[in-house]
Amino acid sequence: MSRPLRLTVLASGRGSNLQAIIDSIDTGRLNAAIVIVISDNEDAFALKRAAANKLPHIFLDPARVSNSQEYDLLLAEKIKQQGVDLVVLAGWMRLLGQGFLDKFPDQVINIHPSLLPAFPGLNAQKQAFEYGVKYTGCTVHFVDAGVDTGPIIAQQIVPIDPDDTLESLTKRILIEEHLLYPRVIQLFSENRIYKDGRKVRIK
Ligand code: GAR
Repeated sequence: MSRPLRLTVLASGRGSNLQAIIDSIDTGRLNAAIVIVISDNEDAFALKRAAANKLPHIFLDPARVSNSQEYDLLLAEKIKQQGVDLVVLAGWMRLLGQGFLDKFPDQVINIHPSLLPAFPGLNAQKQAFEYGVKYTGCTVHFVDAGVDTGPIIAQQIVPIDPDDTLESLTKRILIEEHLLYPRVIQLFSENRIYKDGRKVRIK
């Protein structure tokens, strides 16, 4: 087996996707190692999950700098110190600028709780639910400087049932997120993902 893929996970909140990645590594379904978990929110439950799993973790305080470019520089520096292969956004709620992304070409991915390009941005589940679409889901994509606009790597469809509530729908999407994200990261670990313009191919 090849060496484990070195991951940095960026998380602003609850960290359930972080947990799914940790569990997939622990059960041998994902050949990766989380080298650091970074949060921009001191109270993020993701940091507690990292601590509970004895993973290196830091709170990188946005108040330390005066603008988002400076924050990006600080963040890039921390990540580079660890020598990572893939930067995994898991409920990361800050936009990353082009300056940051240029330092990690094709190495930053995100998960979003809708079938992009539908319903980008905040509260994607609610947007889909209120729009009345019959199918929604989740998307893993490369990150570019737009809001949820990067090349799509993989998607999972979730049908919306007539008796769904926003809560039940959100829960079902999250279950699929927890399956899809570790699977996609494993494909990176096997070197099977490559970009062909906006299209992402899986070997
Ligand atoms: C997840 O549903 C993720 O898809 C979403 O935030 C939640 C984080 O949950 N991300 C976005 O909306 C990004 N645009 P988690 O902290 O429990 O993983």
